[in-house]
Amino acid sequence: MYGKTQEQNMEFEAFYESDEDTTGPRTLSYIQAKGKAIQCRGSRCLVLIAVGLGLICLLLLVFIILQNITITAERDLINSYKNTVEEFNQTINSLQDNYTDLMTEKHQLQNNKLELETRVNDLTAEKSQLQRDFDSLGQRNLDFEHKVTTLSDELKKNVSKGGNQCSLDGLFVSKKAMSWSDSRKYCRDRGGDLVIINTEEKQRLMSSLVRLSERAWIGLSDRENEGNLTWVDNSTLKQGFWFEGEPNDEHGNEDCVEIMVFSSTLNNWNDLPCSEKRKGICEK
Ligand code: BGC
Ligand code: CA
Repeated sequence: MYGKTQEQNMEFEAFYESDEDTTGPRTLSYIQAKGKAIQCRGSRCLVLIAVGLGLICLLLLVFIILQNITITAERDLINSYKNTVEEFNQTINSLQDNYTDLMTEKHQLQNNKLELETRVNDLTAEKSQLQRDFDSLGQRNLDFEHKVTTLSDELKKNVSKGGNQCSLDGLFVSKKAMSWSDSRKYCRDRGGDLVIINTEEKQRLMSSLVRLSERAWIGLSDRENEGNLTWVDNSTLKQGFWFEGEPNDEHGNEDCVEIMVFSSTLNNWNDLPCSEKRKGICEK
């Protein structure tokens, strides 16, 4: 095609060279050459237009591709933003959940703290009360110790007086608590009997023989004859050392007599049902 066009161009150029000579004769071949030249110029224009259009198309294509790339990139960016926002939202939700859990835990801890504070206050009050009780028991213990010492001194004094008034000789206390009858049998089996108390000194001595907070049978009862208290040797009672309000024959069933050592008071006798179990003070 280019070969043909080159040929035509040469003819065309020849034509133009001869065309400048307007004075020369116009032949058929000249006219044909001129037509061909015009034709040739038109096709060159068409080629140029086509090339231009092609370039424009190419530019448009490049532009569209670039646009497309930009849009895709922007879409990716937006998607990435969306994902990030979703992740943020999830993180925020999770943080909110955590916050709610922490608040619940905080309230629970506050409640626990209040409960513990109340408990600590209660325990402190209890401790103070116990301390007071302890102090008071300590004081009572001191009192008891003092009484024991007093009684013990008294006992020693009485013992040192010898058998003139009364002595510990022949006196013993059963190890086991028994009824009045069994206690009496215990004494008799050992060659004695339940003790007879007929003087203040002897009452004092018997009281010191029985330990604090303990009780023991003595040889006095009205088992034989209600209301008529007699000693185990059948002698009648002359001087009693009754606790306040005794003898009261409670429920009409108290016929035997015990010593109750709850304090240093000398008046510590009580009538009691004979079936009750007590240690017995024996005397040979
Ligand atoms: C009474 C006594 C009674 C005793 C019987 C006491 O509360 O004061 O008189 O012998 O109870 O366990
Ligand atoms: Ca009584």
